[in-house]
Amino acid sequence: MCGIFAYLNYCVPRTRKEIFETLVKGLQRLEYRGYDSAGIAVDGNKKTTTEDDGKIVLIKKKGKVKALDEELYKKDCMDLEVELDTHFGIAHTRWATHGEPSALNSHPQRSDKNNEFVVIHNGIITNYKELKKYLNSKGYEFESETDTEVIPKLIKYVYDNRERDDMSFSTLVERVIQQLEGAFALVFKSHYFPGEAVATRRGSPLLIGVRSKYELSAEHIPIQYNSGLLKEGVQDKNSHNRPDKPDKSTAVNSAGDGKAVEYYFASDASAIIEHTNKVIYLEDDDIAAVVGGKLSLHRVNSLAGEDSVRAIQTLQMELQEIMKGNFEAFMQKEIFEQPESVFNTMRGRICFHTNKVILGGLKDHLKEIKRCRRLIMIGCGTSFHAAVATRQILEELTELPVMVELASDFLDRNTPVFRDDVCFYISQSGETADTLMALRYCKDRGALTVGVTNTVGSSISRDTDCGVHINAGPEIGVASTKAYTSQFVALIMFGLMMSEDRISLQPRRLEIINGLKILPDMIKNVLTLDNKIKSIADELYQQKSLLVMGRGFNYATCLEGALKIKEITYMHSEGILAGELKHGPLALIDKHMPVIMIIMKDACYTKCQNALQQVTARSGRPIILCCQDDQEMSENAYKTIELPHTVDCLQGILSVIPLQLLSFHLAVLRGYDVDCPRNLAKSVTVE
Ligand code: F6R
Repeated sequence: MCGIFAYLNYCVPRTRKEIFETLVKGLQRLEYRGYDSAGIAVDGNKKTTTEDDGKIVLIKKKGKVKALDEELYKKDCMDLEVELDTHFGIAHTRWATHGEPSALNSHPQRSDKNNEFVVIHNGIITNYKELKKYLNSKGYEFESETDTEVIPKLIKYVYDNRERDDMSFSTLVERVIQQLEGAFALVFKSHYFPGEAVATRRGSPLLIGVRSKYELSAEHIPIQYNSGLLKEGVQDKNSHNRPDKPDKSTAVNSAGDGKAVEYYFASDASAIIEHTNKVIYLEDDDIAAVVGGKLSLHRVNSLAGEDSVRAIQTLQMELQEIMKGNFEAFMQKEIFEQPESVFNTMRGRICFHTNKVILGGLKDHLKEIKRCRRLIMIGCGTSFHAAVATRQILEELTELPVMVELASDFLDRNTPVFRDDVCFYISQSGETADTLMALRYCKDRGALTVGVTNTVGSSISRDTDCGVHINAGPEIGVASTKAYTSQFVALIMFGLMMSEDRISLQPRRLEIINGLKILPDMIKNVLTLDNKIKSIADELYQQKSLLVMGRGFNYATCLEGALKIKEITYMHSEGILAGELKHGPLALIDKHMPVIMIIMKDACYTKCQNALQQVTARSGRPIILCCQDDQEMSENAYKTIELPHTVDCLQGILSVIPLQLLSFHLAVLRGYDVDCPRNLAKSVTVE
């Protein structure tokens, strides 16, 4: 949901072309976060033309980053070969929330026609209307429909009304963010502070990569606290009710005085990893400033007991993990990665000799979890489906009531939550706004909070009391695939860990652990069905609608399969609980309606056969996902997709893969961009 990228080279000569390339590459890595328009801001040529005269130049374009990239080279006033020893450029790829996709609404947003201050933003400013009204009353004119535009206008207002001429860039930003409500990650650039950068966040992710050939002088960046600044109304120049602090930065630089250093600011690590693996994750209300090549951090309102340093962390991610390789799309690559990704979820956590399962991030809280009143699993979209998929086995293995909740609905209902509840937050990105808000809601009520995420350093992984990292590797395709199967496995491992001392459950545990052991091979086996599934897609791709039916352990596959189909093929698709068929959906069935039925050999087999009879009796022509060698199914189906048989509670991991593949092939045949479905974004950081 909007990607932010910025690059500062200090005493490292780079041509403007190289700077463009770095910015564009950064945006391309973040494009999955939004792709309806993109823009950059760089310094113009100093006095080489009368047109820009060294002012900040904004280049913005509706459409994908590729369109922006082409636009960059059309600007005659930009000398591409000019070498810039020190320069700061900012860039943004947008997923529209306020205002339609257009160049004007894209970022950077600016303070005025001279581009004195420019800003890139990820998040939503909820009090933008009040701020806009105030700024309008002070004579500021707005040009876009965005909420973001209040930010550059506000900083210009603070600058124009500053109490001292030498007020630093970061102090200006600090004044601004004290007026903002909502969620934001922001990077500022200003004509008045050339070669300086200021970045801050609250509720949206932001990290800074540091590259220097010199040893980083501090493993940790000390933080300066500015606790005296309180949130008040927008200030007038002559107001005295806010004490200003002297603008001296006391924080230690990360790369040494006057030494060559490069900084990369990004919404996530995938845009940084090809430059450096040394990063600092900003916390809410941190303000990071680079002045004279030195990075310093300070916080707006400090609380007792807060960390006084931010660690420079080393990313474990590899560049090839975020490259497409020989695949047509990231989604396809990620589907085919599932034998390894589920293996990585289990790696080092299951001992197949002793049948022990240890999730390091949970072990210290296990006693407390076992004593709880109930487990509440919270997520959105695919992550919610992972909760649905594992609910039954978690109830069986933990012998606790398990609630599954869509984060938005959970909040809408003001669901009662108690101190002895344990709440799980399932999220690939770890940044989904609804899930994050549900986390804060439960924390306020004293529940133990557990994160299940795929993104180290994400807000959910940091804000929960404990958690599991699913280790699926970076997921770039907007449609989630490998994260789902890894969430599924991680939650089952949690159930296994909880049931280790239950004697009566040992045979069941053993059965599941043995199933997990051969799961990667079984997934490989399912992936060999790709050609068959492609031929089914050839038959179906012109249809308008596709129903997916099943029950029990495979119901979640119906929901997840239907979600995959609708989000990337734009066909109508519905996941239907087979038990509900006769209560309504049966009316949809005729010989024209494409239906996929999941009928595996488990406790629901007979009931699913009944549903099959009801469908075929209405001339329905179901494509059946069934176990290999299920003769009966082959006889009743229009077509079958035969899957290896595994333990009932793991079968959903295998049954979802044909539907992931089917949605991929349908989308390709319908001519859509698989990785960037319209109107969607990978990381939904707004409510
Ligand atoms: C669907 C999809 C979304 C996400 C949902 C939650 O393919 O990807 O439904 O699952 O937006 O995102 P995370 O898991 O990042 O919280």
